[in-house]
Amino acid sequence: MGWKNRDVISIEDFSIEDLDMLFKLTDEYLEGKYSNDLLKGYIIGNIFLEPSTRTRISFEVAAKKLGAEVINFIGEYSSIKKGESLFDTFKMMDIYTDLIIVRSPIEGTARYASDICKKPVINAGDGMLNHPTQAMIDLYTIKKIHGRLSDLKVGIYGDLRYGRAANSFILGITKYPNNVIYAISPPQLKLRDEMKEKLKEIGANFYETSNLNEVISYLDVLYVTRIQKERFPDPAEYEKVRGSYKIDLKSLEGSKPELIVLHPLPRVEELSYEIDITQRQAYFKQVSFGIPLRMALLSLILGKV
Ligand code: NCD
Repeated sequence: MGWKNRDVISIEDFSIEDLDMLFKLTDEYLEGKYSNDLLKGYIIGNIFLEPSTRTRISFEVAAKKLGAEVINFIGEYSSIKKGESLFDTFKMMDIYTDLIIVRSPIEGTARYASDICKKPVINAGDGMLNHPTQAMIDLYTIKKIHGRLSDLKVGIYGDLRYGRAANSFILGITKYPNNVIYAISPPQLKLRDEMKEKLKEIGANFYETSNLNEVISYLDVLYVTRIQKERFPDPAEYEKVRGSYKIDLKSLEGSKPELIVLHPLPRVEELSYEIDITQRQAYFKQVSFGIPLRMALLSLILGKV
């Protein structure tokens, strides 16, 4: 299918070959092999309708490193506050910019934007399922550290019910052969049935537990996520699970020496700072790979490589 003009809505839409091409270019950019005016004259529109630190800033840094300009649309200060529709907002940004990046709390917003816009749309996270570019970064990080994306035992720990980063990562890593997924969470935060159905359909090998200790010795990767407080329909339900899990050095006892800990960040209280200075820490590597990977993504979609 190729990358040029392609929308990036869900990690499910990308094949291993697509991802290989992206990762190859990311490797080159990571080594500094790029021209800093490759995207000169292009204007990238960031439409963020929900808080973001890394995703928004890293897209902006990625665009600027390649010479593009970035417009930041912030819902709070826009005509959305006067009642302008999302339809008109996307229409405007489609006219003003060359590529649109969308984040929203509502599932389907990026797909809706891509139906309206002629320009390519990248989903920077919408709702509880899709955050494709985060999943691409997660996969790239594992490939860099472990040298492979298959034959891995992968634990995903935390809010698997509401976390789009966790769900997209699972949909990404299960594309590759011979991986075993351990979905570890408090009972209230287990994978949703629709996700389990999806995993069964694709023949993924997954196992659910609420006890990290039971599986820690098997794992090559432990992907930790925060509880998605803002997505709970009932705040009382959040209070019941708040603080119910935390990864620290003690919880990693008995693990393999090669185990790495990933986290899409932000962390709140589920990941101890004591992991930061160990060999297991891979979350700041995810952050740093986010720049070359998003640079590669922009170049491929804008057809400049
Ligand atoms: C995630 C998100 O927004 O889904 N953050 C990110 O983009 N790295 C994870 C989260 O908010 O917990």
